[in-house]
Amino acid sequence: MTPLNQAAAAAQQGFATEVVRWQAQHGRNHLPWQNTRDPYRVWLSEIMLQQTQVATVLGYFDRFLARCPTVAALADASSDEVMGLWSGLGYYSRARNLHRCAQLVVQEHGGAFPRDAATLATLPGIGRSTAAAVASLCFGERVAIMDANVKRVLTRVLGFDADLASAANERALWNHATELLPAGHDAPTQMARYTQGMMDLGATLCSPKNPVCPRCPVRGSCAAAAAGDAERYPVRTRKLKRSSQSLWLLWLRRSDGSVWLSKRPSPGVWAGLQCFPMFESEDALRAALPAGLPGERGLQFLPVVAHVLTHKDLFLHPAQVEYASTAIEFIASGLGEGAWFTPAEWKAAGLPAPVRRLLES
Ligand code: ADE
Repeated sequence: MTPLNQAAAAAQQGFATEVVRWQAQHGRNHLPWQNTRDPYRVWLSEIMLQQTQVATVLGYFDRFLARCPTVAALADASSDEVMGLWSGLGYYSRARNLHRCAQLVVQEHGGAFPRDAATLATLPGIGRSTAAAVASLCFGERVAIMDANVKRVLTRVLGFDADLASAANERALWNHATELLPAGHDAPTQMARYTQGMMDLGATLCSPKNPVCPRCPVRGSCAAAAAGDAERYPVRTRKLKRSSQSLWLLWLRRSDGSVWLSKRPSPGVWAGLQCFPMFESEDALRAALPAGLPGERGLQFLPVVAHVLTHKDLFLHPAQVEYASTAIEFIASGLGEGAWFTPAEWKAAGLPAPVRRLLES
């Protein structure tokens, strides 16, 4: 059966009804961003969950809300504070867009999130799937989400084996996803549970390896379950082209424990975060130190730290400087932009994860 016919057959067999019923009984219903239709909370959780596991987000979500309980409070917060609250979650463009989005909601939408996916998707950091998540979870709009978990569920149910590296194929899958949504006059009341159910199926039973098909509510309309080849899906050929880069970090410490940090420029690695001064070679790092410092004893290279970014492997070479305090101040004064951060200050600052680990080591 083609995916199109499979979609029609699955819809007829009450695919959406089964997902909704299963979610109520077996899905996740007690996460802190559930049982609310507050678009601010739902949007915040969806952005945090874009590239981060639920277990990690749990440690950040309440703390973020305690400091920024409303979209207006977030819009008013300083960018340093937002980066600090995000510090450790990674993918920091999410935090920059989050802040910008909150400001636009306040300035251009009177402080209330738009209620439809098409308008939500015009805001920074809100793609088509995130817009659909907020609009369906909060406002019952009949729109389909398409995150990695949901792609897995759908490609298996439909037997959809076209390569998702192609945007056209992804659009085709999205069209099939729309055909499978709850239909009829009570669809709006079912959309939140359906959206959550698709996420939950993908996160639990419909796992990449060894899916638990016997317990799946939609196994009866699943092409892959019938063929016994669920692990074939989804099909995606393109591999990320990865590069690698070495960077040298100048770790200046004062005797009171303060460290010298400067804000990373945008665009670039860790834009907007506070970081040790960074150099592309050891020579460049040495050249940033004033001439005439007493010998080389004061520069101590620590073991290389490897750090994986989305498209790049970083190899970080931290160099600590152990001169007398007057020399330290002299070095810092020649580094351009930056400031001394006391331990309390750097702990609250937005730092790249490997820099935080170095400082805490
Ligand atoms: N991942 C993305 N959105 C989610 C949600 N609402 N619940 C659990 N996991 C998610």
